[in-house]
Amino acid sequence: MPRPSKHVFVCTQHRPEGHPRGSCAQVNSPAVMEAFLAAFQEHDLWGVHKLAQTSCIGPCANGPSVLVYPESTMYVGVKPEDVREIVEKHLKGGEVVERLKAPADLW
Ligand code: FES
Repeated sequence: MPRPSKHVFVCTQHRPEGHPRGSCAQVNSPAVMEAFLAAFQEHDLWGVHKLAQTSCIGPCANGPSVLVYPESTMYVGVKPEDVREIVEKHLKGGEVVERLKAPADLW
């Protein structure tokens, strides 16, 4: 497999109800992962980029969190309906989606 151009990590960490850190799974991150899977399929990105679900990557209280390397861009509060914009602007166009980017004091 050739080295991917970008690597997208979607946090699907789950924690029990009442856990002080919460979790991305509690705020619908599995649906975000499903949206990425569908978008990768639709745009035929499998041979270009890599997509993986991951456990906690940091900003739990602001999830769902999505991390894109090699830029190390953290997106927070991502909803399934935001995925198309991330794919089209960032993964295909190389432009960070500023409105979803984690603030500097968070990441
Ligand atoms: S649980 Fe998703 S970033 Fe921590």
